[in-house]
Amino acid sequence: MSRTLISLLEVTIILVWRAILSPVLPESIANCPYVAGALLDVPLGLVIVRSGESFNPMTVSCFGESAHYPTSMWISIHRDNFTHELLEKTKEFSFITLDARQGALAVACGTSSGRTADKRGLVDGYEEGGYLFVRGAIASAACRISNSVAVGDHTLFIADMLSGNVDRQPGAIRNLLMSDLHRL
Ligand SMILES: Cc1cc2nc3c(=O)[nH]c(=O)nc-3n(C[C@H](O)[C@H](O)[C@H](O)COP(=O)(O)O)c2cc1C
Repeated sequence: MSRTLISLLEVTIILVWRAILSPVLPESIANCPYVAGALLDVPLGLVIVRSGESFNPMTVSCFGESAHYPTSMWISIHRDNFTHELLEKTKEFSFITLDARQGALAVACGTSSGRTADKRGLVDGYEEGGYLFVRGAIASAACRISNSVAVGDHTLFIADMLSGNVDRQPGAIRNLLMSDLHRL
């Protein structure tokens, strides 16, 4: 067999192998830049902002710890999101660490806006110290914004983590990861 034929065969095998392995994204998130353009298999969370008697949950993948003293974290929120508008008003949010069983919740809260849809029914929330936490979540944290920085079309909100609940049950289920959405 000539070298060209062998190379062609190799390329074909690689392409077929990739097509078999590459997961097909659910249609609802196929065009979501946070999912389709994700460079890393990051964990997912929910940001919940209260607004008077109401509240709005939104899915986030751009977040992280920013310091251990004071215990603080950052979230990066697109300026067009309803959550952004609410955060600028209230300066407070709850951060919920999603678990591997909550992929459908992440998609639901990440594909509709609180401006046009009422997402309250999607979460089983309870109040603690004025913040809304989620029942059974791996972790829920009460956060107060201390600083914000514009980054392109997003705003980086840096917040002190004031209190929280962590599920420390042995064998507790692991974090929801971006790659889990490929298997919904
Ligand atoms: C897996 C996933 C991750 C996302 N991560 C972010 C993020 O980190 N920052 C952001 O601004 N939007 C992110 N989004 C998009 C928002 O969740 C989405 O625009 C949502 O509809 C905004 O809701 P709101 O208008 O009620 O605030 C993500 C969506 C998905 C599905």
